[in-house]
Amino acid sequence: MNRIIKSTVVALLLLISYGCNTTKDTTNKNEQAIIMATPFDAKIDSLMDLMTLKEKIGQTVMYSGDLTVTGPVVSNNNQKYVKEGVVGAMLNVFSAKATKDLQKIAVEETRLGIPLLFGYDVIHGYKTIFPINLGLAASWDLEDIKKGSRIAAEEASAVGIHWTFAPMVDISRDPRWGRISESAGEDVYLASQIGKAYVEGFQGEDLSKHNTILACAKHFVGYGAAQAGRDYHTVNMGEDELRNVYLPPFKATVEAGVETFMTAFNELNGIPATGNKYIFRDILKDEWNFKGFVVTDYFATNEMVVHGYAKDRKEAAKLAIEAGVDQDMMSNANHLYLEELVNEGEVDVKLIDDACRRVLLTKYKLGLFEDPYKYSDEQREKEVIYKPEFLEAARQSAAMSSVLLKNNVSSLPLNKTQTIALIGPLAKDKKNIIGNWAAEGDRNGKAISIHQGIQEYLSDSKIIYAKGCDIEGADDIGFGAAIDAAKKADKIVMVLGESYEMSGEAASRTNIKLPGRQTDLIKAIRKEVPNKKIILVLMNGRPLDLSEEDILVDTILETWFPGTSGGYGVADVLFGAYNPSGKLPVTFPRNVGQIPLYYNMKRAGRPMNPDNPKERYTSNYLDSPNSPLYAFGHGLSYTDYKYSDIKLSANTIGFSDTLTASVTVTNTGEYDGHEVVQLYIHDKVGSLTRPVKELKGFQKIFLKKGESKTVKFDVTIEDLKYYNASSNFDVEPGEFEIAIKGSSDFNFENTFRLE
Ligand code: NOJ
Repeated sequence: MNRIIKSTVVALLLLISYGCNTTKDTTNKNEQAIIMATPFDAKIDSLMDLMTLKEKIGQTVMYSGDLTVTGPVVSNNNQKYVKEGVVGAMLNVFSAKATKDLQKIAVEETRLGIPLLFGYDVIHGYKTIFPINLGLAASWDLEDIKKGSRIAAEEASAVGIHWTFAPMVDISRDPRWGRISESAGEDVYLASQIGKAYVEGFQGEDLSKHNTILACAKHFVGYGAAQAGRDYHTVNMGEDELRNVYLPPFKATVEAGVETFMTAFNELNGIPATGNKYIFRDILKDEWNFKGFVVTDYFATNEMVVHGYAKDRKEAAKLAIEAGVDQDMMSNANHLYLEELVNEGEVDVKLIDDACRRVLLTKYKLGLFEDPYKYSDEQREKEVIYKPEFLEAARQSAAMSSVLLKNNVSSLPLNKTQTIALIGPLAKDKKNIIGNWAAEGDRNGKAISIHQGIQEYLSDSKIIYAKGCDIEGADDIGFGAAIDAAKKADKIVMVLGESYEMSGEAASRTNIKLPGRQTDLIKAIRKEVPNKKIILVLMNGRPLDLSEEDILVDTILETWFPGTSGGYGVADVLFGAYNPSGKLPVTFPRNVGQIPLYYNMKRAGRPMNPDNPKERYTSNYLDSPNSPLYAFGHGLSYTDYKYSDIKLSANTIGFSDTLTASVTVTNTGEYDGHEVVQLYIHDKVGSLTRPVKELKGFQKIFLKKGESKTVKFDVTIEDLKYYNASSNFDVEPGEFEIAIKGSSDFNFENTFRLE
């Protein structure tokens, strides 16, 4: 069809369908294919009437460009397939020019001119890189997370990206698992709130704007529970854990309007997620009424064969579409087999229609039928990338994400008059500081090292630098120079940690200590320079076993991988321009043997006796305490906060009542600061046993020194509900414990009843 005829057809379609909304029968659950009620239904109907089966299947196909390779490459025929109109989406194609060129082929050289969707992993920034997601979670600052993802969308949308494969909302309780770095940590409530904030930031309020992009909740579901923390590994979990721990953050993203979901690589209870009808059709699309579309993870349809669930790729294609998976990322399974499967009567064509319709709907919502090139804007690309205010926002996020784990005798903040020894392989680093999954972030010029950040506060004559050792490897040749530097300085700042490649996908570790000779370097300096303060600044993508470091050093500041402006943000914390307020979103164990260790575990029938932790026949270890090194919610400040005067509005509430719990928080120290005030409850008896503590709310408040504030939380029965023994999301009457604290490390003292 030439361009003029095609434009006329499209114009006619728009005319016929404009404003003509249809609401279709919603009675038959299995015919979700036809359940839609959107302003675009009529347009989609008209377009789909023109589409051949092959073209409809095309919308369920995604291929990868070759700009970034994130898995096996199955097709080098991208342009050819795009021209044939049998590709719905591309990943790993970016830059305004590259996306526009390919879009032009889709729009101008195919029969129906349906625009492509361009997806990419914009995980914690596109060019301006924010702290890794685990770090962002440590800020407990939903507004800041939303702002960061808004900025990521601003930059990504300008280079033609319509869709980010984020947020990852997998509950992550195993620090061996490399992808814990991309998560919001271990807690259901915190991860749910954070998941929502990302979705709101990426998608904005109006998807048809040129600077808003589709979000993708991933990886559905259970990916974080991989056995032994090994990536892609088996997951087995019961309904209690699935419903009460792993599903809620995903449900929260659906409530926030997330447009797409991604399947997980793992199998769940014997069925690979990508072929798992229970989770996609029954729960996501049926129970939760999700109207967007589901994409597989990269190559995941094919992997059902390797899992031993499908006998070949053709069967895998059938299993995926039947499970409710709408688009095939890079398996080439839909492209090769769906038409044949339909013709053989093996796959109901309604499933293809449904998948195609869902994909088209997002394209309409984005406004791509009106202007397929509006995202690929070379002028805007130049204007928005690395905007000064974006870099400034990244600096603030880096400061807010830093967690002060320990600070003996106030070794921090640093003083501008003192000389420091700046030691360690990450002190001048620009490559690792932006972390893994850093999209198009610059690992060189643009990133600000910790050294550069410190230079903002101290003249070069007051900074004595020595690398000391590498991140990995056995070499200790630099130890001598590091010891000399330490001897000459007033305080010693050591910047140590992991390389960025030690976390993220396919980066699991069985040893979660500092790699290489880094701990030996601390020991050597401590031995030779026993009386000077050692401040350990950490960069890492997971909770580390810091049990030795905790004894050796005076102060530990966890900065995760703090991003493009990380050096500035961390220096702001080191020198007290920002008083640290980060709190751990994940438990730091004492040793790898305690894993999984998380604050809201269940209580054993023979719990450890706190007065006699080594008592036989109780749930303990012979060789380690049960307690973590640093608890979930922990994080110090340069000031001190006192919690007092907890009050409950009632001792007993009814089912329609709201309990108000309040506490007075006083800044008793010498610095102004932010404090994250946390609300925990414990449902003492349930038809299913309940965790010993559950976070149910938090507020980040600002207190000037000497100031007090009363912080109030409203608790309704919604907050007390869970999936119970009858598989109902409901509340059960009885006694609850409640506390408002600055960390999860406390014993309850207050109770109320629900009757
Ligand atoms: C595999 C990862 O699991 C997923 O999170 C990512 O979005 C895709 N690759 C695409 O790069």
